[in-house]
Amino acid sequence: MTGPATRSIRLTGWGRYAPAQVLTNADLERMVDTSDDWIVSRTGIRERRVAAAHETTASMGAVAGLRAIRTAGLEPDDIDLIILATLTPDYWMPSTAALVKEAIGNSKAAAFDLAAACSGFVYAYTTASAYLAAGMAKHALVIGAELLTRFLDYSDRSTCILFGDGAGAVVLSASDEPTAPVGIELTTEPQGAYMIWLPAGGSRSPSSAETIARGEHKIRMEGKETYRFATRTLASTALAAVDKAGWEPADVDLFVPHQANIRIIEAVAKGLGLPMDKMFVNLDRYGNTSAASVPIALAEAVNEGRVKVGDKLVFVAFGAGFTSGAVAMEWTADPAAGPAGDAAVSAGDVVIRKPVDWDSVDPIPPALVEVLARPLPLDLDLSDVVPGEPEHAHPSTH
Ligand code: ACO
Repeated sequence: MTGPATRSIRLTGWGRYAPAQVLTNADLERMVDTSDDWIVSRTGIRERRVAAAHETTASMGAVAGLRAIRTAGLEPDDIDLIILATLTPDYWMPSTAALVKEAIGNSKAAAFDLAAACSGFVYAYTTASAYLAAGMAKHALVIGAELLTRFLDYSDRSTCILFGDGAGAVVLSASDEPTAPVGIELTTEPQGAYMIWLPAGGSRSPSSAETIARGEHKIRMEGKETYRFATRTLASTALAAVDKAGWEPADVDLFVPHQANIRIIEAVAKGLGLPMDKMFVNLDRYGNTSAASVPIALAEAVNEGRVKVGDKLVFVAFGAGFTSGAVAMEWTADPAAGPAGDAAVSAGDVVIRKPVDWDSVDPIPPALVEVLARPLPLDLDLSDVVPGEPEHAHPSTH
């Protein structure tokens, strides 16, 4: 873990995984007092993914991570640092990153989790960048993975409509080739601490029959305050990162914002004086996947042909804490590597080892039992998908 100081960094791999089962607004209409019209007009979300009983944050993160490693043309053991951002770890300990390390067959990486809620991926990206720049690692796997549907209160219509499950990942590699300047901005405003939070299960209030009876193991949110913070901060954080890279907002080819609410993304575009076609949006299909949101969006943007070598990109996120973060970077990898990396790894290739003599109780929230029991949507075979082929359909099971 030694080397020359301040090496340059390239994003060499990217991948994503979304569970197959879809929870639509029509499903939610049957569960809480809401409507497709309200959800679409207030948030832009039409559907989100729900992890199956056998899936966990680690299993989804491992699939996305392995896809990113394959896209980079690397082997799992080439990775010497794994940082996984999540607010929904498999366990309090060990870290979910440690489980991912074992599942992908890596023997030498330092692996740890990072907690910065929906800004987690951007924080993890910048942390990994610092390791690489300092010569402390050569290839870092940065994952954002979340299984939020097991932490939602399906009687609270203001939160349960927003979130979904999934994972995204990138590989960052130290390089001797010079790269364009990078801009990074990270902020934390602790006065927002209780605006989005999960009250019980920590040292302040360990889980007990009482905390569970009070529903304190589910996510709580002050939507309006969070909305105000997001619209105020997202544009200013993005602007600071753009400024640190020495660019103007108009120089940026594509913003990959946290996919929380279309109105928030529209406010960012307006704040920066940019048209919406500079903002990548996929929240209509995934909802808010917290730390997984930016890397899933990035992988989709690249694989859909929205990014080419030399493009200037900005990733920007906000979340509980309140935290926010933005990275301005120039794209250097061949975008055609993405679909091949996806096709090289299927969900069944990854197994998270369970503890001996122990099994979890049924993890499916009662409100989702019916949704998870129904036949899966069309299972697309990705094995024929090769770089350069036109996109016929979104691989809805991958
Ligand atoms: N269906 C129908 N009506 C609803 C629903 C729903 N799902 N949810 C709330 N309402 C009602 C409210 O009860 C309220 O009714 P009232 O006027 O009779 O009291 C009315 O709709 C308006 O509610 P508001 O809260 O004012 O609605 P708003 O336009 O602010 O939208 C929303 C709510 C979507 C939650 C918005 O505030 C938001 O997106 N906030 C940001 C949330 C966010 O991004 N969180 C993620 C943070 S990232 C992280 O770290 C996890």
